[in-house]
Amino acid sequence: MNPNDNQISTISQFYNGKSVFITGGTGFLGKVLVEKLLRSCPGIENIFLLVRPKKGKSIDERLADLTASQCFDLLREKNQKALNKIVLIEGNTSDLGLGISKENRELLCNKVSVIIHSAATVRFVEAFKYSVNTNLRAVNELLKLSKEVKNLKSFVHISTAYSNWFQPVIEEKHYPAEFDPQYIIDLFNSTPDDQLEKLAPKLYGKHVNIYTFTKSLAEDLAVKTPKDFPFAIVRPSVVGASFAEPHPGWVDSYTATTPLVDQSARGVIRALNCHKNYVFDVIPVDIVINQVIAVSWKIAIDSVSKSGISSPLVYNCVSGTTNPITIKEICQYSRDAGKKSPSELMRWYPQTRFYKSRTLFKIDTFLTHYIPALLSDAVDKLRGIDGKAVNYYNKVQYGASQLKFIMNTSIMWKTENGPKLLSSMDKHDQKVFNFDPKIYNWRSYIDDFYFGIRKFMTNDKTACSIAAQKKFARLKYANYIVSGSIAAISLFALVKAGDQIINKDAEKSKI
Ligand SMILES: NC(=O)c1ccc[n+]([C@@H]2O[C@H](COP(=O)([O-])OP(=O)(O)OC[C@H]3O[C@@H](n4cnc5c(N)ncnc54)[C@H](OP(=O)(O)O)[C@@H]3O)[C@@H](O)[C@H]2O)c1
Repeated sequence: MNPNDNQISTISQFYNGKSVFITGGTGFLGKVLVEKLLRSCPGIENIFLLVRPKKGKSIDERLADLTASQCFDLLREKNQKALNKIVLIEGNTSDLGLGISKENRELLCNKVSVIIHSAATVRFVEAFKYSVNTNLRAVNELLKLSKEVKNLKSFVHISTAYSNWFQPVIEEKHYPAEFDPQYIIDLFNSTPDDQLEKLAPKLYGKHVNIYTFTKSLAEDLAVKTPKDFPFAIVRPSVVGASFAEPHPGWVDSYTATTPLVDQSARGVIRALNCHKNYVFDVIPVDIVINQVIAVSWKIAIDSVSKSGISSPLVYNCVSGTTNPITIKEICQYSRDAGKKSPSELMRWYPQTRFYKSRTLFKIDTFLTHYIPALLSDAVDKLRGIDGKAVNYYNKVQYGASQLKFIMNTSIMWKTENGPKLLSSMDKHDQKVFNFDPKIYNWRSYIDDFYFGIRKFMTNDKTACSIAAQKKFARLKYANYIVSGSIAAISLFALVKAGDQIINKDAEKSKI
């Protein structure tokens, strides 16, 4: 919100004196959500955050880490005291009752007016039981809690636009799952882990991983559970760095688009196995959060879908329908960002080739990813250092392979509810909580994204340093030499092959 702007926000007013319960508040989306609510809804009473102890850190230590994040820089500058509104609720979404104590449960039931459920394990490869309990059973547990909340005005469930990714057209509606969610919860909790390894993938149907499988079941469960409070589902596509808030390019999650941008800009990825002209649906994190906040307001004031069964309100939160970008363009803009602002962490001169054929892709990656990596490790070995290049490229390849189903599927999402919601908001709120994907220009967004990765994630301060520019120049010439040599060898091989054919024909004609 512009500090000089004295207009009153209707959405912000809705939150006056209300408390919000958020799960997943320590995550990528969660941080932006907490920050935005505290900054743009100053009348909010409390934000109750479900947090688990993790990696030896207590929940209080985790809160200190959270609020120290650069995501909160702007808020700390404008209204540091707002951070005192955060109240920690110790719990774990993979536990029954969300692992919340009796006292805290009572506190939530008495105080909370809005629930936003963002917690999930977003890993595509994850322990099956844990994934089912965290992504699916937690929704059940949260809905049970919600029914006990005395004055619940709205509940927003954050799902994913890929929960039914195999549908060629994804509408803003409920897609029933193939199995009863409760059956899956019971089955996974009563089957030993070693048997689940074999069983689980057989149940996926058209899903390719445990993530979309559990997220689609969670939607189904949430929709089918009878409830007497307004409820909606927001389905973001692939969430990328912030477009504008809290800072352009803010990001702290090295998943999905982040490695694609970073590794294309630094010349790490040079070949991809995908349809280059397919849309890669990226949506900035602040756009998603603005929509989530607006949805929670809207369903509360309209008191919609109280029964929640026949017509859940679903919002496909995607960019591709109105402002599409292809994989080729993402890589191109990222490469341009890398060239504009070279880094000392560059691996090669930025370039990307796209292959639909898996074989050609494998040949290219062997030649351009693995041979240089093997050479680099061999040189390191001679210097007595443990080489890590091959290992690094294994991770890069693994990351890219996880995104294959996204990069090789052309999906059309219907987005009618978002624009309707935006037009129902007053002019002021349309600015403060803008979530129109048409407002950004992809090239400058990707420039900011790459800048954000370096500033907020990799702490790469070498942008445009003399050393970075020298390295970039060296890589550019090395690339000319290598590409030129490959072209010369290919030409030579072609000429040789042509000669052999001509000679054979000549010999045949003599006979
Ligand atoms: N990122 C995307 O591209 C994307 C795209 C579409 C939809 N979404 C959805 O958006 C939501 C948030 O995703 P994200 O990207 O912010 O993920 P994230 O950065 O991995 O954050 C996940 C959040 O969930 C919490 N969580 C996970 N397991 C938990 C457990 N057992 N108990 C308590 N809390 C737990 C994490 O807490 P800890 O800090 O304790 O781990 C963290 O706060 C998810 O529902 C996801 O499905 C994300």
